[in-house]
Amino acid sequence: MNNSWNRIIYRFWSSFYDVMINLSPFQRARQLAISRLRLQAGHRLLIVGIGTGADLPHLPPGVEVVGIDLSPAMLKVAARKLLECDSSVQLVIADAARLPFPSKCFDAVLLSLILSVVPDASACLEEVTRVANPDCRIVVLDKFLHGETPSLLRRLLNVLTRFFGTDINRNLEAMLAGKGMKVVSRVPAAFGGTYEVIELRHDSCIHD
Ligand SMILES: C[S@@+](CC[C@H](N)C(=O)[O-])C[C@H]1O[C@@H](n2cnc3c(N)ncnc32)[C@H](O)[C@@H]1O
Repeated sequence: MNNSWNRIIYRFWSSFYDVMINLSPFQRARQLAISRLRLQAGHRLLIVGIGTGADLPHLPPGVEVVGIDLSPAMLKVAARKLLECDSSVQLVIADAARLPFPSKCFDAVLLSLILSVVPDASACLEEVTRVANPDCRIVVLDKFLHGETPSLLRRLLNVLTRFFGTDINRNLEAMLAGKGMKVVSRVPAAFGGTYEVIELRHDSCIHD
């Protein structure tokens, strides 16, 4: 996967992404992920790879949201949702591996269905660690391998899923190695636990 292809494939998806992504298991998973952020009015939230803004309707009021995405087409759909949103939302075209923000400027970071999509998930997590303040809540909603080596069938299937813009064989532990973050909780969220909600914190964070 690379950014050029991601721009093309997500331009293709942008017209009907919402139909697929608004299935109720995903909606419930998003609600769970957002509840783990424990957002309060005034918090600055970064949504990495915000896509069409499917998380926006689930946010509590008064949060200052910055959503970044590589795809102008996906952001165009997200922009249409802003009128119905009770939070201030800024949409920015950017690469998740090179976030255009100063260090330690967000109170919460949401990574929904993005670590399985970005070409370099490790660089994305490094950037998230940089822009998150030390108390920041970082929540991931995604699908990962659980340490096992993927079967041949799964590797073959992955050729197809990568073509359509997502990798089914990524390993969260490998991505987190050396990032100064730990997994605080990991719970099944949708489709029999294929999708999980994972809460991450800076190693230095002293709060629960
Ligand atoms: C599966 S969609 C998820 C969208 C949204 N987070 C959601 O939960 O519905 C993946 C998104 O990642 C974006 N994307 C792909 N590569 C990216 C990159 N390098 N940096 C930022 N966004 C990227 C795509 O444009 C797409 O909007």
